This record gives sequence, structure tokens and C-alpha cells, in this order.
Amino acid sequence: MALLRVDQLKVYYPVRSGLLRRTVDYVKAVDGLSFELQHGETYGLVGESGCGKTTAGRTMIGLIRATAGEIHLEGDRIDRLSGRALSRYRRDVQMIFQDPYSSLNPRKRVLDIIAEPLRNFERLSPQEERRKVRDFVERVGLHPDSVYKYPHEFSGGQRQRIGIARALTLNPKLIIADEPVSSLDVSVQAQVLNFMKDIQREFRLTYLLISHDLGIIRHMCDRIGIMYRGRLVEEGTRDDIFEQPQHIYARRLVAAIPNPNPRQRDAQRERRLQVEREYEQLREQSFDREGKPHPLKRLTESHSAALL
Ligand SMILES: Nc1ncnc2c1ncn2[C@@H]1O[C@H](COP(=O)(O)OP(=O)(O)OP(=O)(O)O)[C@@H](O)[C@H]1O
Ligand SMILES: [Mg+2]
Repeated sequence: MALLRVDQLKVYYPVRSGLLRRTVDYVKAVDGLSFELQHGETYGLVGESGCGKTTAGRTMIGLIRATAGEIHLEGDRIDRLSGRALSRYRRDVQMIFQDPYSSLNPRKRVLDIIAEPLRNFERLSPQEERRKVRDFVERVGLHPDSVYKYPHEFSGGQRQRIGIARALTLNPKLIIADEPVSSLDVSVQAQVLNFMKDIQREFRLTYLLISHDLGIIRHMCDRIGIMYRGRLVEEGTRDDIFEQPQHIYARRLVAAIPNPNPRQRDAQRERRLQVEREYEQLREQSFDREGKPHPLKRLTESHSAALL
């Protein structure tokens, strides 16, 4: 069974106007998104700004209510959970946030920041709690005495490790990481990403990695879903997406990745222009009347694209 199954998810934000704040329209941020996460994999949700990635992630963790559609965690619909099952879900799915500068409370010590989720779920003595937090801080590569410091005493990369330690304490199954390194210096990005890979095996984690950066997605993900205007336009393994993109939108994204090899730059530029011309020609037929992707069509066992 899939760890997480998202089926025809829709999240519409009301647009209100006038004195009575009546709803005059909706922003269809997520509009028919479906995919599955298998245990232990890293699934990348990639797409341009505003395509609905963050909204989708926050709905999966229960921060936003779905307008329609279903989300199942190990077979159970998350909007129907209550009691112990709800508490279990809140432990099993954790999030790593984009900005380690604003997501850690500046007035709290690292000990209290990391212990907070533990305090919500477990009754530990102060000594047990401190031991556990020091242990996690050490496992994310910081000195155990860091627990007595405040967030401003750390670098961005270290802060993101603190955010990761906080997400790990409840031994989650799924971590949703929304642009986890985009606020970090490029030199630190790889470090944090590689660290996420290292702990994946140790903690048997499944990742949903949300990013607009195809380089990061390629480095990290086993399978990838390309999102466009609230739904998937293509889905496949890393090879499917980067070697054989099928939808013109996906081909355009992949063609735009800068090639580090200077000798291939001219050839790549030529290819990019070619894809750009095709995109102009095919644009109309490649999307439905609302300008959104058609339903996904299965091309191979692993690869699907929104082709007619
Ligand atoms: N709270 C909100 N109220 C109304 N509209 C919203 C709200 N949050 C997001 N939106 C709109 O929903 C759409 C999707 O936004 P979302 O933040 O999910 O995109 P994203 O893919 O994460 O973009 P980015 O790459 O810039 O982070 C956008 O059009 C956005 O303006
Ligand atoms: Mg976002």
C-alpha cells in the first residue's frame, strides 16, 4: 500500500470583496492533483511560482482544508481521523519549512524549540527530555551543548538542521520539505540536502520535496511530479523526466536547465530555442480550455504525461 495517496485534490481560496466580504471568485490553487508516495522514496513536486506546491503540501499536513478530493495516509482518509488515529497522523507527518530564520522562535532556547513537539505527545521527565534533545542535536551534526543556545547564535545551515531535528523527534514516516534550502547560501544548500539524504536511511523516512529548482529535484528525487496550475502535467522517475520529457511544458523546463559544460552551451542554446518555438506552436492544444493540463495519460509503467 502507498504511504500517501492524493486523489483529485482541490484547494480553492475564496476571493472576497465589498462591504459584506462576499465571495466573488475563487483562486483554484490546487485543482485536481493526484499522486502516490511509496514508502522510503523521495518524491519531488516541482513547478513554477504560484502553481500550488505549498498549498498542496500544507493541505497534506492538515494546515489547510481541502475543498474537494481525498488524502489517504496508509489507507486512512486524513480528514476523517479522530482520537488516537489523528494523533498518530500528527506524529507521522512532519514538515521542514523554507525559512529557518523565521520558523524558529527567536526567544526560545534550542532545547525548548526541539522539545515542543515531544511535549505535545509524550510525557517525559525533564532529564529524559534533555537527554533525547541532546541526542537529536548531536545526530544532526551539532554539539549537544547547542541546546542551551538561541537561534540567532547559529548559521542558516545550522538552523535548518535544528528544524530537521525538531521534525525528527517524533519519529515520523513522512517529511514534507517545502523549499528546505532556498533561503540558504548555495554553498550550504548541498550540505543540508546531503544531510537529508543521510538521515533518510537511518530514520527510514519518506520525503515529499517541494521545490522550484530542477537541479535540487534531480539531485534528490527518485520520482518527480511536475505541477502546472494546480495539477500534474507530467510524472515519472528521474530518468523519465530528465531524459525523456514528453509534455511540451516539461520539455521546456528541462531545456532551460543551464548546462555547466561550456562546450555544449551553443548546442544547448539552439535546442532551447527549438523547444521554445515548438512550445509556441503546441501551446493551445497542450492544455484544456481553462489553460490547465489535460488528464494524465500513462506512457509506461512509471511515466505519465498530460497528453491528448
Ligand atoms: N492564503 C491564500 N489566499 C488566497 N490565495 C492564496 C493563498 N495562498 C496562496 N494563494 C494563491 O494560490 C496559488 C498557489 O500558491 P502557492 O503558494 O501554493 O504556490 P507555490 O507553488 O508554492 O509558489 P512558490 O513557488 O512561489 O512558493 C497562487 O496563485 C497564490 O497567489
Ligand atoms: Mg511555495
